[in-house]
Amino acid sequence: MIFEQVAAGGCQSYLIGCAETCAAALIDPQIDHVDRYLGLAARDGLRIRYVIDTHTHADHFSATRELARSLSVPVVMHRASPAQFVDMRIDDGEIIAVGRLRLSVLHTPGHTSDSMCLVVEDRIFTGDTLLIGATGRTDLPTGDPEALYESLFYGVLRLEPQLKVFPAHEYKGRSYSTIGQELAENPRLQRRDRESFIATMRNLNLTMPTHITEALRTNMSGGKIIAQLLAEAAARVPFMSLAELKSHIEAEDDDLIVLDVREREAYDNGHIPRARHLPRGQLELRVNEDLPDPTRRILSYCEFGRISTLAAATLREIGFQRAVALDGGMKAWREAGYPVL
Ligand SMILES: [Fe+2]
Repeated sequence: MIFEQVAAGGCQSYLIGCAETCAAALIDPQIDHVDRYLGLAARDGLRIRYVIDTHTHADHFSATRELARSLSVPVVMHRASPAQFVDMRIDDGEIIAVGRLRLSVLHTPGHTSDSMCLVVEDRIFTGDTLLIGATGRTDLPTGDPEALYESLFYGVLRLEPQLKVFPAHEYKGRSYSTIGQELAENPRLQRRDRESFIATMRNLNLTMPTHITEALRTNMSGGKIIAQLLAEAAARVPFMSLAELKSHIEAEDDDLIVLDVREREAYDNGHIPRARHLPRGQLELRVNEDLPDPTRRILSYCEFGRISTLAAATLREIGFQRAVALDGGMKAWREAGYPVL
């Protein structure tokens, strides 16, 4: 088995490949690390055949949908997953064949109702059902401490003690543990009667994960996160540096149309000399009147350089082939001590 563990920001993703056939599966990929997974697979000579989420993540942005599209492979999740875009729904006791590897599915509700663990050879991918020295929380949507008790004490913890545990989260830099080690040392598993386990889980009083709304929205719908939308726009437009723009302004260059796409109040409070005002919200409404010549070179800027990137991408999309965005925004322009009108 070829095995890669990718740790990032407390989240763990896994690439497992069959050494004989070079088929691979990617478990719990995150949107920020798509290039890294593909790079690892290429380095190891693997072809990713499945992208799998162990459950609906509430704390990070899953890359399964995007990878499935770009690789033309199925998104695999438990049948209870609320996500419409799941291509291959699987159930307890079933097997995913990855080349000669066999991934066995254990439905382990508790952290979420669609949580599952995957066993392959000497290891188990536990998602957020069992963590090293902890368990997944049960206070997020579809969480259920009683179900988690059942999944752990009548499921996962009855497996071979030497089975290696690879969880979806690890915050202390450990790579893995074993079922036996968790049974012996995991503080949440020491009081083994149902009532005290459930009481412990009900009284953790954890803070909500950051980005929970956006994570649930996008992971359940396959929609894009805002950062992704911006990154995709940024990949389609060229940028101009602050210094380059300054030299155009100083040269009183009439060939370059400078567009301030912020709101009126921001524009009135100070803008780049020679800039016209066309707020992002009115771009599509006013473009035909305000920018009659699509062959002109147009630069858009905003406060931080993000909305202007979307504006430039929109302009390119509708035929302004020389639209560019400022690399930076009005804030950086001010900070550079450049002229403000
Ligand atoms: Fe989770």
